[in-house]
Amino acid sequence: MTSLRSFIVELATAGGQIARDLFIKRADHDVRHEVRVKADRDYVSHADGLVEDTIIRRIRAAHPSHQILGEESGTSGHSANQDALWIIDPIDGTTNFIHGIAQFAISIAFCDAQGPVIAVVYDPIADEMFLAERDQGLWLNDVPRRTSGCTSLRDALVANAMPFRSPAVHDDALTVFSAVQRACDDQRRAGAASLDLAYVAVGRLDAYYEIGIHPWDTAAGELLVRCGGGVATDYRGGTGELLRRRSIVAAANAGVHGELLAQVAPLVPWLARAPFAPV
Ligand code: IPD
Ligand code: CA
Repeated sequence: MTSLRSFIVELATAGGQIARDLFIKRADHDVRHEVRVKADRDYVSHADGLVEDTIIRRIRAAHPSHQILGEESGTSGHSANQDALWIIDPIDGTTNFIHGIAQFAISIAFCDAQGPVIAVVYDPIADEMFLAERDQGLWLNDVPRRTSGCTSLRDALVANAMPFRSPAVHDDALTVFSAVQRACDDQRRAGAASLDLAYVAVGRLDAYYEIGIHPWDTAAGELLVRCGGGVATDYRGGTGELLRRRSIVAAANAGVHGELLAQVAPLVPWLARAPFAPV
């Protein structure tokens, strides 16, 4: 019988192959006209749908009783099954993908009632498979990895993103961005939340924060960070409510996480109101 670990790797590899092939073909012509606008500043390419369908078809065939939450197709399967939920982002970094920027990933988490159990983030261009299993560890292409040894925000290289789909939040988000800029070593905005988290998990980055994300952006990456020895919470410092997650602060360790959590505090009130909480 195939183990869950090899199954999830197979899913990401199959999805990654489709995304990589379409990305390489894309180099010959501009695919921006093939893109559908889901909502303001929210795009979906032909590739997102194809990758998600492929992954879902394989899960359905192997585990017909499991529940699935996909970025493009929403929730499907047995809603009563709280102990077996797949959360899928078929192409995290769609905007990069459609612009021909090779920073995107397939993100898949398998969760039970306590949260993610096993997760992968796969970068098909770099051929990097980040895999974590709860209470077992973190691997990059089968080699065990850990978060960085950075111990203070002052020395930290920090990834972030603006809540670009929510203009009402921009002023407050810029205030936080500017305070973090003064407090840390430097900041990066690469455009794929799952890879930002994977990079924190393996020590390339020391921390990452973003408000406006969805569970499919971060479910897999959160587990990677924790299994690498880091800390990942929402802006309130909580780890519950994975399916309603709209913010994340992740760091190499509790010290850097605590410092960054204090920096994002001015944005916490937004979590209780539109656009981040249902009105
Ligand atoms: C987005 C990317 C981006 C982040 C957004 C996400 P998508 O996911 O991860 O880096 O800033 O919040 O929605 O739309 O490319 O799957
Ligand atoms: Ca995403």
